[in-house]
Amino acid sequence: NRKPIIAIDGPAGAGKSTVTRRVAQELGLMYLDTGAMYRAITWLVLNSNINLEDEAAIAELVSQVNLELTPKGIKINGEDVTEAIRTLQVTAHVSAISAMESVRQALVKQQQSYGQKGGIVAEGRDIGTHVFPNAELKIFLTASVQERARRRLQDLIESGQGDITVNQLEQDIQLRDYRDSHRKFAPLQKATDAIEIITDGLTIEDVTAKIITLYREVV
Ligand code: C5P
Repeated sequence: NRKPIIAIDGPAGAGKSTVTRRVAQELGLMYLDTGAMYRAITWLVLNSNINLEDEAAIAELVSQVNLELTPKGIKINGEDVTEAIRTLQVTAHVSAISAMESVRQALVKQQQSYGQKGGIVAEGRDIGTHVFPNAELKIFLTASVQERARRRLQDLIESGQGDITVNQLEQDIQLRDYRDSHRKFAPLQKATDAIEIITDGLTIEDVTAKIITLYREVV
């Protein structure tokens, strides 16, 4: 008899993180950022002597890893990497690492154990389709590439990495979308029973309120 689960999926820059965090806060549910888990593994690979294409070595690394979600962020093997996982370098390599079956299997298992009792809002790419296919509410958040690039630039400026053009970001986003939705294992896809919200022109408050309304209808 588990508590409800909300699954929030969608491409990069659709506003998932901010909205998911707000929804969790307002409903008193746990927030699970699965992208941060893939980013932390990517960070660890980049900071070890492992070749990025050596899937066997990466599988070995992942089988021994200690990933800890903290109230404010994430730790890997005891090291707080909450900020380190947001660099352009990690972002550039995360799609390749997260396409590996061994990486996905290990992380999905950990995500499902977090969700065993329910009472969580999880965000990612495959939450409604693979991680929690029985979630009570599934949301697919998206926005135009232009809007998403604009938001990304804003985030990067705020973290002192704004030395990049909107055009470059649009290209990066398109490439990451393509890779995430064409990979073999658990590609980014809207679950058939997910409700799509296009966030162009909507504020964070608008989107949060919409999801909370939908949640109250199903729970
Ligand atoms: O959401 P965020 O941008 O932090 O995710 C980073 C990357 O992690 C995505 O581009 C995707 O390659 C991968 N990811 C994934 N499955 C998830 C969450 C993230 O493959 N559930």
